[in-house]
Amino acid sequence: MWQCSICAHENDTSNLSCELCGVLRDLSLYFNNISETEAGAKRRNKYSGVSVLARSLFAPSSTKSKAIIFSDGSQDNRNATGNKQATMDALHKTYMPSKKRHINIVPFKFDTPSPDDMVTTGLKSSRNFRKAVQIKDSVDATGKKMMDSGILQTEKDTSMDPCTSAEVDKLGGTSSSVPSSNQQVTPILDHELQHLSLESKPKSSKPKIKKPASISEYKPEPWMLQSEDQEIRRQLNLAIVGHVDSGKSTLCGRLLHALGLISKKQMHKYEKEAKEKGKGSFAYAWAMDDSTDERERGITMTVAVKYFDTEKYHVVLLDSPGHKDFVPNMISGATQADAAILVVDASVGSFEAGMGVNGIGQTKEHSQLIRSFGVENLIVAVNKMDMVEHSKDRFNFVKLQLGIFLRSCGFKDSSITWVPLSAMANENLVTAASDSRLLSWYNGNCLLKSIDSLPPPHRDVSRPLRLPICDIIASITLGQVAVCGKVEAGGIRTGSKVLVMPSGDLATVKTIERDSSSCNLARAGDNIAVGLQGLDPGHLVSGGVICHPDFPVHVASRLELKILVLEITTPILVGLQFELHIHHARVSASLVKILSLLDQKTGKASKKMPRLLTARQAAVVDVKLDKEVCVEEFSALKALGRAFLRSGGNTVAVGIVTRILDEAKV
Ligand code: GTP
Ligand code: MG
Repeated sequence: MWQCSICAHENDTSNLSCELCGVLRDLSLYFNNISETEAGAKRRNKYSGVSVLARSLFAPSSTKSKAIIFSDGSQDNRNATGNKQATMDALHKTYMPSKKRHINIVPFKFDTPSPDDMVTTGLKSSRNFRKAVQIKDSVDATGKKMMDSGILQTEKDTSMDPCTSAEVDKLGGTSSSVPSSNQQVTPILDHELQHLSLESKPKSSKPKIKKPASISEYKPEPWMLQSEDQEIRRQLNLAIVGHVDSGKSTLCGRLLHALGLISKKQMHKYEKEAKEKGKGSFAYAWAMDDSTDERERGITMTVAVKYFDTEKYHVVLLDSPGHKDFVPNMISGATQADAAILVVDASVGSFEAGMGVNGIGQTKEHSQLIRSFGVENLIVAVNKMDMVEHSKDRFNFVKLQLGIFLRSCGFKDSSITWVPLSAMANENLVTAASDSRLLSWYNGNCLLKSIDSLPPPHRDVSRPLRLPICDIIASITLGQVAVCGKVEAGGIRTGSKVLVMPSGDLATVKTIERDSSSCNLARAGDNIAVGLQGLDPGHLVSGGVICHPDFPVHVASRLELKILVLEITTPILVGLQFELHIHHARVSASLVKILSLLDQKTGKASKKMPRLLTARQAAVVDVKLDKEVCVEEFSALKALGRAFLRSGGNTVAVGIVTRILDEAKV
């Protein structure tokens, strides 16, 4: 027998993880200084691989934007983007009214109780924590323009807005020689988030919040709890992520084409135009990459949203950018995901680049991020198999290498589906493999069947309304005061009163749009656009939250976070500044104190007040925000209680909000 270090449950010696809370028995491997391959070999035997904290932060406990970029049309000059964005930003700042800008943000979705959850809440089962998912999009889930839904304009994505990188270079995280979009956002965010500051609130905005009621008093209304069985097809938000050029957009385009959703005529047009531009191989990707910049540069910059149906699901495809500079955009789409397809390029050298020869590749970063958003089910599309002669050995090599890493992120083997395919050759996408080389060793599901086999997402409707504002939009059908985002908790109905935070204004819901058509109500998991009446549009900010009038969200200026440091090369020091993302809010923050280092095995405090944090350490930290942010403790609402820290263009740590230390009085 062995005793679980977290819940003290006595487990049989044959169990490699605690049967009660899932904590691994031997956690040391992951953090030893051994190569991944060596560690992997051992892990395969022991099913080890991840720390308690990694699991508690990434793993189970029971879930865009429009960039304006000048392009020089050359992929080789991608690194110049920062400067050009800076120019654009200067123009933008000068000529655009502040309310016309938005920021994209980033909910984390740690959806099942972590071992730490169980310790702190005394829960005995992870099954009580289920994820709030299901998204219905009338609105482009990432804020992209949707002319056909009547939305005329979403706000510009300030995630692409630049700032000097000097500020972020001071941070303790990994630094990049490439000025990424993420390095460049801080000033604009500060500006945007002035709205979040109660001090900067216009005088006319009088707080109208009643004394907040206790959450235990909340009783959902019957319409919110309407049976999900009434839905014919459940909606599944599927993020397509992976390293740059792995073939994500081509895969999406091919899939849509094979399903008859792109007409022959349209496809012919893409092919012709792509050829004319000397980018013939990108014809299918053009179905997703619709901006001139994206097409000229041959890379995705914003998240593209398309739809298709499988037998079981109405799938919302969220095609993410793979390039490092656009990770913030990837995040804003991927945070909406119920499940993800991680596309990896099987060809020699490219897979290795995604795994990060020098530093972390986006295959790794995207995997970590989507897991930290609460995505548990993953399809790994091993693409470009045509480039490796459909080799079983290469496929197995990719599976072995990446599998080790995915396990370390907290993905369970049983929740990962591996599909060898070739997007370009339409091999194994919507029908079974036909190439004899592939057929000789693969008889599993094609991609479409694998998508259909994903477990259905669960909707969480029993809490008070929380609708984090992703974008502020203007639309003919919705009116001038409208927002879009995903309902994270509760429900919303036309005619009902809602509280707009952090301004504290009360507004009436005039219209709701979902899936490009108006509707009377929406529930947790739905992606909607809401037209509001009775408030000043200037009081709406991206990163704000629409709430139930009696149950306002917290507005915090100082937080206690439990974080897990990712692969960084420069230590994180007390006093350093970074960019904090919480749902759709993004704000500059500073590390006031590292309260304690956490023991990897037990999750308990091992050292008080260390001065710095290095890669893969877990800690409890005290963080001061430059502006107030709408937030919930993770234990209260996971979607609004996940945070991640970015610095120097990289995600340096992910975490959860354990305590609100300073709260603004609204
Ligand atoms: P970003 O969005 O910029 O990260 O790129 P992406 O992952 O969307 O890649 P994209 O679809 O733009 O494709 C990149 C290149 O890979 C294009 O030249 C495609 O033609 C090529 N490609 C995609 N899939 C395949 C495939 O199955 N086989 C081969 N040989 N090439 C492919
Ligand atoms: Mg793409």
